[in-house]
Amino acid sequence: MSDLVVARTRAELVAARRALEGPVAVVMTMGALHRGHAALVREARRRATSVLVTIFLNPLQFGRGEDLARYPRTLDADLELCRAEGVDAVFAPGPDVVYPEGDPGIRVSAGQLGTVLEGASRPGHFDGVLTVVCKLMHLTRADQAYFGQKDAQQLLLVRRMVRDLDVPVEVVGVPTVREDDGLALSSRNTYLTPFDREVALSLSRSLRAGAEVAAEGPSAVRRAARDVLLAEPAARVDYLALVHPVTLQDVPEHHRGEALLAVAAKVGSTRLIDNVPLTIG
Ligand code: PAJ
Repeated sequence: MSDLVVARTRAELVAARRALEGPVAVVMTMGALHRGHAALVREARRRATSVLVTIFLNPLQFGRGEDLARYPRTLDADLELCRAEGVDAVFAPGPDVVYPEGDPGIRVSAGQLGTVLEGASRPGHFDGVLTVVCKLMHLTRADQAYFGQKDAQQLLLVRRMVRDLDVPVEVVGVPTVREDDGLALSSRNTYLTPFDREVALSLSRSLRAGAEVAAEGPSAVRRAARDVLLAEPAARVDYLALVHPVTLQDVPEHHRGEALLAVAAKVGSTRLIDNVPLTIG
């Protein structure tokens, strides 16, 4: 098993980073690691020489009334997973290390793309995400950064930030990892009661139903997905949207080609998201 270096301060990160052979990949996480995070690490190991994982629960991306206080904190188990997956170094700073001045005055703006879908329900969320992603890219000086398709809007916005701000990092997307029954893995799944977990399956089931009729056009996809979702009244739907994968605008009925079917719903006290990329027509 590899020796895992754990850096908690900026100085420790600089020392750990110096010892890494390039190309260096970074996998950014908020901890409570699961097989979805592990898939990112595996893809990173396949394509890079060294893999650095960051574990940082970023307060900047949580809104008032969101789950920052109860978000699962499982650092020992997270380090175990990193060790087992052959990660070379972990950067696990506290908020005072990442934001020494407290709330940063300057933030990265996600712009219009940050105001739709997740951004409509979570104002400022993506500014908080992009700000920390940008900082962690600089701090780790990684050559590559790996993000999950599970958070499709986040992946898209990170790609846009890197392009629009000329950040010298290659962004790599990794497909969503699911349980055998279809539930997308998420750190937030630990909040679900056994009842909630059954209800939560309606999200992936609805996406599958939509994807199955992709050949029939957008309205068939929307109808099939909505029917499945509405059959589970205990899932309080925030949005179900069939959008263009780059503009995130609703696709018109004549649309053919790539699209993204995305859903968000509250199940019990837990807000869940899921999506599936599909080809219409
Ligand atoms: P977190 O939710 O911990 O996710 C870290 C990374 O793992 C993200 O790129 C996310 O898309 C990916 N991921 C989570 N579940 C996955 C699954 N089931 N399959 C594949 N990939 C999955 O996303 C964040 O943290 C934060 O916003 C962060 C980018 C770290 C910035 O704070």
